[in-house]
Amino acid sequence: MNPLIASVLATMFVIIGGVTVLIMLEMTGKTRDNAGKTGLILAHRILGYLFLSLFGFMLFFMIRKVAGFQEELTARAVFHIVLALSLVPLILVKVLVVRRLPQLSEKLPLLGIAIFMLSFGLTGITAGYYVLHRSNLTYTTLSAQDNDVLNMELGKAIMNKKCSKCHSLERVYRAYKSDDGWAGTVNKMALLDSPNITTFDVKQVLNYLIEQQKERQAKNPAGLEDDVGKSLVSSKCSVCHNLDRVFGARKNEKQWTTTVGRMVTTMDEPDFLSEQEKSDIIAFLSRREAIE
Ligand code: HEC
Ligand code: HEC
Repeated sequence: MNPLIASVLATMFVIIGGVTVLIMLEMTGKTRDNAGKTGLILAHRILGYLFLSLFGFMLFFMIRKVAGFQEELTARAVFHIVLALSLVPLILVKVLVVRRLPQLSEKLPLLGIAIFMLSFGLTGITAGYYVLHRSNLTYTTLSAQDNDVLNMELGKAIMNKKCSKCHSLERVYRAYKSDDGWAGTVNKMALLDSPNITTFDVKQVLNYLIEQQKERQAKNPAGLEDDVGKSLVSSKCSVCHNLDRVFGARKNEKQWTTTVGRMVTTMDEPDFLSEQEKSDIIAFLSRREAIE
């Protein structure tokens, strides 16, 4: 769920919970005025059910999200889950007392207040966390001072955990980019998932991606030629569309010749590609298909 929507839902959850409790306290105070009480009971009941549905809805998303985590949960997440789950028996007891055990009904305000306090705490750590951490993300690149903290293993672990949330990691491993290209992508992703991906994460992941791409290249026997082809493709073929479009395509040499010819026609600029550049690109793209 989008963090903003989650915060709004959580805030509604607390407000509805609070109003429900207030109505209940108001009701408890009025022992004589029966007419006024009926209206309040109805309002309390409607809000109560709204509160329950919101809770169920958010619980569903929370469980789905937790089930998708591959790494250990943070202390904050565990605390959040424990709080949320402890609301379940409290709400069940509350409903049970109202329906089946009217003799215990003086205890109801206490239960209601406990439920409200727990939901307030729950919201505090969701909405509050996002509000506090929202805006401290700036465009991050690597600099020489970072060398001491950069660590390949750590970068890989962070990437496996944080970059697999919205798409498969294959999407990341398959991409070929210049250093600046990677910086652009990782920063964009961090912005999409702020505040989950921190500046520290951006640096570690960026370092890992750049280094592992170098390693990949070192293993590739046609490394140097590929470098030429790759940088040509990165600079020339990203003018009109994402490089995903290029690297996602599967073609043999003949098909690449046709496609590149069509791109040159589309570009309609005489010095867009020299004959040499054209054949370098075609050779590089066809070889990629043969290697993979
Ligand atoms: C909040 C969801 C989300 C997270 C988390 C996320 N991505 Fe993405 N990613 C997307 C979306 C949406 C797209 C497709 C839109 C686009 O291309 O701009 C995408 C596309 C990509 C692409 C292909 C497009 C390109 O620019 O090359 C790469 C590579 C990528 N992500 C890498 C990463 C990395 C690395 C991380 C971890 C730092 C990451 N993603 C985390 C949502 C996410
Ligand atoms: C002038 C803009 C432009 C440039 C530059 C450009 N493309 Fe394209 N490309 C397009 C458009 C428009 C489409 C979608 C229409 C189409 O398929 O003809 C496309 C689609 C594609 C596709 C998907 C369609 C297919 O045939 O598989 C591939 C692959 C592709 N381009 C590769 C390249 C390569 C490689 C380069 C660099 C040599 C390149 N493009 C440069 C405009 C461009």
